[in-house]
Amino acid sequence: MRDPNADELAAMADLLGPLAIRVAATLRLADHMAAGVTTGAGLARRVGAHPPTLKKLLRYLVSRGVFRWSEERGYEVTELGAPLLDDAPGSVRRRLSMDGLLGLAELGLVGLPHTVRTGEAGYRAAFGRDFWQDVSDVPDDANVLAEEVAGVLDGEGRLIVHSYDWSGVRRVLDVGGGNGTLLIELARAHPGLGGAVLDLPGMARAAARRIEEHGLGGRCAAIEGSFLEPIPPGYDVYLLSAILCDWPDDDAVKILRRCGEAAGTDGRVLVADMNLVYDDDDPDAARMNLLLTGTVPVPVRTLKQVKRLGAAAGLDLSWEGPTTRRRTLLEFRAH
Ligand SMILES: C[S@@+](CC[C@H](N)C(=O)[O-])C[C@H]1O[C@@H](n2cnc3c(N)ncnc32)[C@H](O)[C@@H]1O
Repeated sequence: MRDPNADELAAMADLLGPLAIRVAATLRLADHMAAGVTTGAGLARRVGAHPPTLKKLLRYLVSRGVFRWSEERGYEVTELGAPLLDDAPGSVRRRLSMDGLLGLAELGLVGLPHTVRTGEAGYRAAFGRDFWQDVSDVPDDANVLAEEVAGVLDGEGRLIVHSYDWSGVRRVLDVGGGNGTLLIELARAHPGLGGAVLDLPGMARAAARRIEEHGLGGRCAAIEGSFLEPIPPGYDVYLLSAILCDWPDDDAVKILRRCGEAAGTDGRVLVADMNLVYDDDDPDAARMNLLLTGTVPVPVRTLKQVKRLGAAAGLDLSWEGPTTRRRTLLEFRAH
């Protein structure tokens, strides 16, 4: 007799549903339907898809209750599919889009077998490319992606602006500074402070735009580059906010070393690392711990381990700030 759990388990393991929904999110099918494009051919034209294949996708999503179809009205979004609309309350469209930061990261789960065998993140194993380089290369949505990256800068990130003594600092290099959110906040809170964001090209372009939008072009700039290569000297503080947590130890040490070399004996390296520890009593812990390990690498490091990385990069700990559940704040100096 067939084990009744077999169907349930196979349904849990079915990859088609999640991917079909994500393709619908990527192509914004729900928004096009809501805007009145309701035929398969019309939708295919609108999104530049292969008509017969798009029709198969639509039929499948109708069978799953995400869309409905009728002779008179064509394709429509159902109540279940409504969160795929961009402006729906609690919309999941951007989160599921394969052009979005989280959607792109989750594609790395294809490399989960490699991750489980080796502990290394799956994205590179699955696609042979660096996750952040791919984020930087997303063409049109770079701005949207940059906004998502800046979302990483939560309330605790703002700790950096207020709990460090910025009074003597004139120039800061926000290394991997994303779209410039943090540098802009720093410059607004501390009128004597300026500096630059160093990030991969897509993100640096977004940072340059935002710096201009905030009228800070006179004090701040964006530099395209990689923190795995030598980075520009001459800044008072080299800030690493939510950077080391994306990298395994040997790369993290390399990034710290690059900052230390650029800082020289006069500059400082300020590490504001993220520490996404999900306690076992957190209901989401099991999912998040596996998800974060399987997508981009998010090594969960204790404060002691972050200090050890600094020492391995030849840096001395010179100040220790408040540590919250999700952030560390440590200042290092080169000797
Ligand atoms: C988790 S985000 C942190 C962004 C920002 N510092 C913050 O606190 O919100 C990681 C950042 O590192 C950047 N990045 C990744 N690899 C990089 C590299 N090799 N060189 C420079 N920046 C890089 C990404 O583009 C992204 O902006």
